[in-house]
Order: sequence, then C-alpha cells, then structure tokens
Amino acid sequence: MRLLVIGTGSIGERHLRVFQQLDRCDAIAFCETHPARRAEIAARYGIPEAFAFPDLDSALAKGAYDLAVVATPAPTHLAIGTRLAELGVHQLMEKPLSLSLDGVEDYARLVAEKGIVVAVGYVHRAHPAVAAIRREIASGRFGKPVNVSISTGQAFAQIRPAYREVYFAKPELGGGAINDMITHMYNVGDWLAGPIRRLVTDAAHQVLEGVTVEDTVHTLTRHENGAMGSYTLNLYQHPNEVLMTVVCERGTLRADYARLRWSWMDEPNGTWHHEPVEVPDRDEIYRVQNAAFLDAVDGSGEVLCSLDDAIRTLHVNLASHRSATEAGWQDIPS
Ligand SMILES: NC(=O)c1ccc[n+]([C@@H]2O[C@H](COP(=O)([O-])OP(=O)(O)OC[C@H]3O[C@@H](n4cnc5c(N)ncnc54)[C@H](O)[C@@H]3O)[C@@H](O)[C@H]2O)c1
Repeated sequence: MRLLVIGTGSIGERHLRVFQQLDRCDAIAFCETHPARRAEIAARYGIPEAFAFPDLDSALAKGAYDLAVVATPAPTHLAIGTRLAELGVHQLMEKPLSLSLDGVEDYARLVAEKGIVVAVGYVHRAHPAVAAIRREIASGRFGKPVNVSISTGQAFAQIRPAYREVYFAKPELGGGAINDMITHMYNVGDWLAGPIRRLVTDAAHQVLEGVTVEDTVHTLTRHENGAMGSYTLNLYQHPNEVLMTVVCERGTLRADYARLRWSWMDEPNGTWHHEPVEVPDRDEIYRVQNAAFLDAVDGSGEVLCSLDDAIRTLHVNLASHRSATEAGWQDIPS
C-alpha cells in the first residue's frame, strides 16, 4: 500500500510517524507547501527527497497512491478529498470534515460511487476508556443512555504554544473551540448516545491571549432517543482532563482520561467499579485509529468514524455556531 500524507504540520507529522510505526505501508510520501517544514519532516523521518513534494499536483503527477491522509486546515479538506476520490484513493480525513455544507453531498456521492474507504479523524473514539463505555452501552447491560455529561479542559497555550500563528486563531480556517475542540466531544456524544437533534450553545473568548476566537463552550443537547446532554470545554484550565459520564436506565458509566480508567456503577448509591486502561503515549490513540483505517482498506475491519458520522457532526458544529451567535435552541436535520 502506498500512502501520501498531505500537510505535515502538527497532526500530519503525527500521522506520518504513526504510519511508519505501524509498518503496514510499502511506501510513504508526503506533500507540504511550507519549504522549511518539508525539509524538516523529510530529515526527521528519513523520507527521500523524491517522496517529499511541495504540493499535491506534483505528488499526483509523480506517483500513484492507494491511501492518503488529509491533514491540511479544514477549508481545504473537501477539495483535496474530492480530487483523491476521483482517483480512487482511500482517505483518512482530518476533522472537522468542512466548515460548511458546500460540496458535502457531492463528495459523499463520489465516495460511494468509487467505493473508497473514508475515515474521519475523530480520534477520541480510539481512546480505550471511551471504547469500553461504548461497548458496554452497545451490550445493553445498562439499558439505554438517558443523560450524557462531557466535561473537558486543558492548558492549550502550553500544549500548543504556536496557537496564535496556526489555523486555530482564524475562524475562517477552522479556528476556535467549537470547530477545533468541542467538535470531538459532539462526535463522541453521538457515538455513545445517538445522534444529536437539538442544541443550545453559549460560547465566548475568556482567557487565551493573542486571539479572539472562543476558548470556552457550554452546550446542552437533546439526542434522537430523548437523552439529554451537557458538554463543556475550556482551553485554559490547568488540569488536562476529559471526563465523560453516561447515565443509563440501569447504571452509570464513566470514562476518565486523567485517571486512565473507565468505571461503572449499577446500584443506587453503590460503589464504583474501576477498570484501568493503558495509553502509553500521545500517539497511542492515533495508532489505534489509523490501524482501524488500514483494516477497513484491506477488508478486515471498520473505520472508527465513518463519513456519515462526520457529516452528522458537521451539522452539529454548524448548529452550535448558529446558536452561539444567534442564541436559542437550534434543530439539527436528520
Ligand atoms: N484529530 C486530531 O487530534 C487533530 C489534532 C490537531 C489538528 N487536527 C486537524 O488537522 C488539520 C490540520 O491541523 P494542524 O494542527 O496539523 O495544522 P498545522 O497548521 O499545524 O498544519 C497544517 C499543515 O498543512 C500545510 N498545508 C496547508 N495547505 C496545504 C496544501 N494544500 N498541501 C500541502 N500542505 C498544505 C501547512 O503548510 C501546514 O504545515 C485541521 O483540520 C485540524 O482541525 C486534528
């Protein structure tokens, strides 16, 4: 399998490294428009000059690929994805799928016609604590989800010191906490409790220096099955935490990243049962996600986040923005 990574900024570099670690591709090439960054990545990962391209045109002119990673800023995703789909190239597309619905239907139709695999990089589905509570919910043991709370925060300025210079600072490039961050949680909420059908969002810039995009988001949701949800995120609290609690008819499940565990309780005022998970490094969840993509391409498995799932999350992102600017509850089409 020949892989092309498009865009080797922060996440494209991680994907390139992870695919090297997985060692399931025969060749890895990349294209990166920024010359210094291109040279840096080629040197760091031992990619020959002939496989390090300045843009997609030259990469496609000089080689044929079975798989691609689209790791450029969001407004470019669909145009690049459409071009690759026309060539029958399977794709791991970074999130969010896009910033509007323009071109989404055509892209989805083309992907179906060409029969290619598309995975979208909503990588929290690959976290073992999330996968465990999803598995428990799907088993039916706890009954259906009725209440979802997802609370997350991190010291973003320390985790991504370049945040002022990259797409994050610009809404038109997919910046801000809705398109960049809480979208992951909306996607997980959809996976755990089913599609979100209504929401109301309050969002604002509170703390992060040098940008004006929202760094704080609070959203209430109603899911298709009637479950109620609340999602909160800030990008400045000191602890780096993700806490997800799903209250089901006959028990409560919790994923806790900071404590590396998932937990369950199945009696009122009972005791928590804690189950440890292992996440040896920050690449781990990407290894799980990207291996699932390769399994889907070779027919031995399924992607973690399908194109349909990512399109639902795009509708949620758009509704969340509408609510934050226009106020009030927003409906999300089914
Ligand atoms: N799933 C995740 O965990 C995760 C994490 C970070 C970013 N992302 C997503 O990945 C995308 C990229 O984010 P990032 O943080 O890597 O951004 P970044 O700005 O660090 O990197 C983007 C890179 O793409 C290059 N580039 C831009 N247009 C190009 C083109 N047409 N052809 C080739 N190269 C091009 C830029 O020079 C840059 O190096 C965004 O959509 C973002 O939301 C996902």
